[in-house]
Amino acid sequence: MSELLQVRNLTKHFGGLAAVQDVSFDVNKGEIVGLIGPNGAGKTTTFSLLTGFLTPTRGTITFAGRRIDNLKPHVICRLGMTRTFQIVQPFPEMTALENVMMGALVHHRNIDEAQRRGRNTLARVGLAHKADTPGRELTLVEQKRLEIGKALATEPQLLLLDEVAAGLREAEVDVILDLVRQLNTEGITLLIVEHLMKVIMNLSQRIVVLDFGQKIAEGSPAEVSANPLVLEAYLGKEED
Ligand SMILES: Nc1ncnc2c1ncn2[C@@H]1O[C@H](COP(=O)(O)OP(=O)(O)O)[C@@H](O)[C@H]1O
Ligand SMILES: [Mg+2]
Repeated sequence: MSELLQVRNLTKHFGGLAAVQDVSFDVNKGEIVGLIGPNGAGKTTTFSLLTGFLTPTRGTITFAGRRIDNLKPHVICRLGMTRTFQIVQPFPEMTALENVMMGALVHHRNIDEAQRRGRNTLARVGLAHKADTPGRELTLVEQKRLEIGKALATEPQLLLLDEVAAGLREAEVDVILDLVRQLNTEGITLLIVEHLMKVIMNLSQRIVVLDFGQKIAEGSPAEVSANPLVLEAYLGKEED
């Protein structure tokens, strides 16, 4: 497998706080990699650094052979790496179709083409029947799907999902699991942050564990879940 993303010594300070510190890992083409850690471990900050929403204090990010650590989000998106947001943010007044068209417009300036691709994307995330529904009228699970659709419409090679199953009911979680697997089958590489262990353990081929901004473990789901450092990081937080 060839590496698509290479992260080296990635560090982000907010004032005196090292939200991410000297984190290094790779994501290979075709993989599903999980990024886990207790609340405040630095997962969302890592996503923001990878996708250009934050600038690293130190460290390098190489995507598809190219240094991207000082590029803007829209440039990184055009290169093929896109994220979803933990807090779903559909454009509330725009229809589901218009929402995903915003993503399609990254590569296709022609409105008819963007609309055609937008419809296609809605079908992929199971929202074809909601094309004309405004973002604000969608249920949470539909908004989560739309969030994935918006990202998908930008045609990513690497898709970063931030807690897309959070807040969903059991059956809805399974639907999202199937969707993520399907996208991977279609050739999309995924880096996923998820609080629900069921989701992470089911989907990830490899897991990177953060705690207090540092990488404390990396390995298969079985290796990571048997790692004392990981157990301690989670148990310590549970007792808070
Ligand atoms: N914009 C910011 N300014 C200051 N501190 C931040 C900011 N974003 C995150 N943090 C802090 O950085 C740490 C990591 O946060 P975050 O990446 O959101 O963690 P996670 O997603 O793993 O829960 C936390 O202590 C959080 O309070
Ligand atoms: Mg987070």
